[in-house]
Amino acid sequence: LSTIRVDVSGIGEGTQLTVKWLGKPVFIRLRTPEEIEAAKGVEMSELVDTDARNANIPAGSDASDANRGLLPPGAEPGADSPWLVMMGVCTHLGCVPIGNAGDFALDSGQGGWFCPCHGSHYDTAGRIRRGPAPQNLPVPPAEFLDDTTILLG
Ligand code: FES
Repeated sequence: LSTIRVDVSGIGEGTQLTVKWLGKPVFIRLRTPEEIEAAKGVEMSELVDTDARNANIPAGSDASDANRGLLPPGAEPGADSPWLVMMGVCTHLGCVPIGNAGDFALDSGQGGWFCPCHGSHYDTAGRIRRGPAPQNLPVPPAEFLDDTTILLG
């Protein structure tokens, strides 16, 4: 099956679920307002990769936080979204990054990802910020079918 349905009703704010899709991990995270604010506060000039890498929007869109999140049902296009859905595969050599870790986790310890293989740090929008990985964690094809169900693929 190339598509799967994921029940996200059990994901609390500041936590994430990892599911397997096409044999690879996908991180589904419900971000806190602080994680979103941190991501929105980053200028494009600070990013290693300014491409959204989001399969759900036009190719070449910039890596602003709004272009990385997945909008819940009923949200206005371009709105901030607490939902972040992305491949849990480091864009360096494919290890699985650790959540709530790395130099771009918040002071509270939340948000951000760290790849322990060679030290890549991703921010609270899954964008590469430090280390050898060249690209942001990719956002796969995904959409909400209803308030608590995400279709992947
Ligand atoms: Fe992640 Fe090398 S595989 S830093």
